[in-house]
Amino acid sequence: MCGIVGYIGDKQAPPVLIKGLKRLEYRGYDSSGIAIINDSRIEVFKKQGKVAEMENLVLDADPQSSLGIGHTRWATHGSPNDINSHPHYSNSGRIAIIHNGIIENYASIKEGLLKRGYTFESETDTEVLVNLIEDVLLHTEVSLAEAVRIALNQVVGAYAIAVIEEGNNDQIVVAKKGSPLVIGIGTGEYYIASDATPFIEYTNQAVYLEEEEVALISLKKGLEIRTIANKLIRPYIQELALEIESIEKAGYDHFMLKEVNEQPKSIFDTLRGRLIVDKNNISINALNQYEKKFLNADRIVIVACGTSWHAGLVAEYLIEGLARIPVEVEYASEFRYRNPIITERDIVIAVSQSGETADTLSAIQLAKAKGATIFGICNVVGSSIAREAHIGAYTHAGPEIGVASTKAFTAQVTLFTLIAMSLAEKKGSISKKLYRKLIRELNAIPKKVQQTLNLDAQSKHIASVYKDVSNCLFLGRGINFPVALEGALKLKEISYIHAEGYPAAEMKHGPIALIDADMPTVVVAIKTEHYEKVVSNIQEIKARNGKIIAIVNDGDSVVSKIADHVIEIPEVDERLSPLLTTIPLQLISYHIAVMRGCHVDQPRNLAKSVTVE
Ligand code: G6P
Repeated sequence: MCGIVGYIGDKQAPPVLIKGLKRLEYRGYDSSGIAIINDSRIEVFKKQGKVAEMENLVLDADPQSSLGIGHTRWATHGSPNDINSHPHYSNSGRIAIIHNGIIENYASIKEGLLKRGYTFESETDTEVLVNLIEDVLLHTEVSLAEAVRIALNQVVGAYAIAVIEEGNNDQIVVAKKGSPLVIGIGTGEYYIASDATPFIEYTNQAVYLEEEEVALISLKKGLEIRTIANKLIRPYIQELALEIESIEKAGYDHFMLKEVNEQPKSIFDTLRGRLIVDKNNISINALNQYEKKFLNADRIVIVACGTSWHAGLVAEYLIEGLARIPVEVEYASEFRYRNPIITERDIVIAVSQSGETADTLSAIQLAKAKGATIFGICNVVGSSIAREAHIGAYTHAGPEIGVASTKAFTAQVTLFTLIAMSLAEKKGSISKKLYRKLIRELNAIPKKVQQTLNLDAQSKHIASVYKDVSNCLFLGRGINFPVALEGALKLKEISYIHAEGYPAAEMKHGPIALIDADMPTVVVAIKTEHYEKVVSNIQEIKARNGKIIAIVNDGDSVVSKIADHVIEIPEVDERLSPLLTTIPLQLISYHIAVMRGCHVDQPRNLAKSVTVE
């Protein structure tokens, strides 16, 4: 993963780089560093740990420079220590590089360089790349940009890189393949970053580099882009709609809490323009455009990772239940390596908040090559998956910074609900009555989500009771089974408590052996056709002294008598219930993590955008 930034202009570069890196910490936070050109010489500051640690080094030295590059790392090759931190120097110290991605053939390149006398300080693939570039520079009479281009022709793997050269304080060379890189164009200044958040407060003019492109960024020469095959490219400048307020904490202690509380609005934004209540209609442009493809599809295959995969599982219940189209939900990482049977009559939906997850991206590239129609459901506008897909729909949840996904999940589920209903209506597999009822209920969802959020005090109390447990079980049935999986994932991600999600009825085939007075079980027990059966499961747990935290409907009189704690949420059609049942699970995990002193927004070992396999 990793986040990269760069600046060239008339501002002091170090504070711009450090602020930018803090915005990109969601991409990794094992170590960070910057390289600047100070008085024609390259100076590097780097340190293990969060950006704030490295910032102290920079503040002490107070270097002056108007050109620099910076990196925040999620370790792949080599442990997260100071030496393996980026930027990396070439052997002569003449060039410095930052890199997001993985050079797959680094071992063979390294072998060649070792034979030619190069030495390596770190265990990284990046140090190999910077020396490969140096080797080209030493053996040819070319510019840095040209040397980067030539070197990249020998590289297999993924990269977003930025390179600077001693003695030249008017150039940054960048290149991209497989990892994102965007160039911000200000007045008399340029920014580079993994996404636009580091520079959006300075400029909204941006150029997204495409695959295998190399760019020379120079105040004197401007922006010159070439492919690694040396074809000159005309930069396509986009105006970004992102606003700075949307990427700040707005008074909340953590981004996660802010994002959980934003859900009434983010769900409303997902529905906006698509749910047309006064006309009793749903309209999704991409579906209208590809209506025939969808209606003639043999099946829909959903590929995703992590929380997005859970949204895909919810979608399976929705699309099969309402539109009667067979759906398969696959981990992208498994799908791509098992030679899947995919035909031109398949629709493959990729779900990804970031739109950059490497496994999901590769999965759709594979499916595309086999002739499937690719539909992207992404949150980040202009992201790689959104661009790779034939068609798609954005979730419009706004930037999600907390590593644990919350509002992106409910936005994905909302969009899938719209898709399922729209397909059902087009196929004639839903009655007019039910269609209208669901439209009315969907319209009321943002308000009910707010009512559910208002129950925060109960989640906080439950968190205070169970914050010290070592294990926790989450149960749900039907469309709330994926919610149980998501609840368990949230808890383990941010509080490091072992948690497992299970279909409630499966509990008796294993997890029941773990139940005792020290193991709480969180059960989604709202009124559905499975209600009685879930009540029986709760009884089975109580009979073994287990503790029950139940999510029930307002006024529930059965479960509230047997459970140790209940959270009563508003009633809603079962098909829409994940949008409400998820909320208390997010809040319980959040409060437990805070009470345990965990780093909620940046949990250990995780990253928000996983751009490695
Ligand atoms: C990482 C994040 C998760 C996310 C998953 C998939 O593991 O920590 O929160 O669900 O990647 O990411 P995507 O951007 O593709 O939804």
